[in-house]
Amino acid sequence: ATESADMEQITDYLCRYKNYNFPSGKVTAEYIDSLQSFEIRDSDIFLVTYPKSGTIWTQQIIISICELGGGLNEYPNNFDQMPWLEYTEGREDYSFRPSPRLFSSHLTPALMPPGLKDKKTKIIYVMRNPKDNIVSYYHFSGDLTDLETPKIPGSCWFDHIREWHSKKDQYNILFLTYEDMILDLKTAVTKICRFLGKNLSEEAIEQVVKKSTFKTMKKDSKANYEFLPEERFSGKFLRKGNIGDWKNIFTVAQSERIDKVLQEKLGDLSLKFIWE
Ligand code: A3P
Repeated sequence: ATESADMEQITDYLCRYKNYNFPSGKVTAEYIDSLQSFEIRDSDIFLVTYPKSGTIWTQQIIISICELGGGLNEYPNNFDQMPWLEYTEGREDYSFRPSPRLFSSHLTPALMPPGLKDKKTKIIYVMRNPKDNIVSYYHFSGDLTDLETPKIPGSCWFDHIREWHSKKDQYNILFLTYEDMILDLKTAVTKICRFLGKNLSEEAIEQVVKKSTFKTMKKDSKANYEFLPEERFSGKFLRKGNIGDWKNIFTVAQSERIDKVLQEKLGDLSLKFIWE
């Protein structure tokens, strides 16, 4: 048996394990299982998102807040500062990292370290309206996506939203939306600050806001993800950065289909979406 005998190869570049699509050869079933005994600390901060919901944006906000709040260890870029829990590539032994440790993840609750249910460790969850989320993912996946049978890394968007929202009482979690952040970044930054228990001055909050605008991030080599090796990803993380790009792409029928599925799958959660 190979190391990842439990992973089912579903396309040339994707493996499925526990209802989640992982990039082939980048992670093993054993590693994902080992997260069940991953030792978290009360001071850890987790950012959880479905891909393309504003992950690197929120990373920049959290990192800037923690930097100004004092005592953050330095790393070459935001990817190293706030690594994805599920990617094993280049992974160090995080138990040697000084606190506070910052982690990102696209995983579903079942795959996350169960210690998070002690409700001490803070989790920030960012959701984006599904139409813009699809458009962003579509561009990001580029020619990787087999459009006949679209299979993408991660889980199903509807499952991700349902799982995290329905289990919210089990975690110490702050829910934010991409759209809230677009419409009023300062209020979003202030909310994150308060949740993290960081008492930043008005001036420091303004500084975080400035560091986190689309324009500043685009030029910030620690934050723009252009440091990723080209063979891994040649697209752009910072693409358009707005609400409502779906209107340029979807037909009326496609948009209505999403409205219908959204109602069927998540109607009972009474989530509010901002579409434009
Ligand atoms: P678009 O493709 O719609 O432009 P993730 O980080 O989860 O992969 O999400 C990427 C999306 O977040 C992209 O959306 C990107 O442009 C947007 N984004 C990243 N930084 C941003 C910022 N500072 N302001 C607004 N949008 C941002």
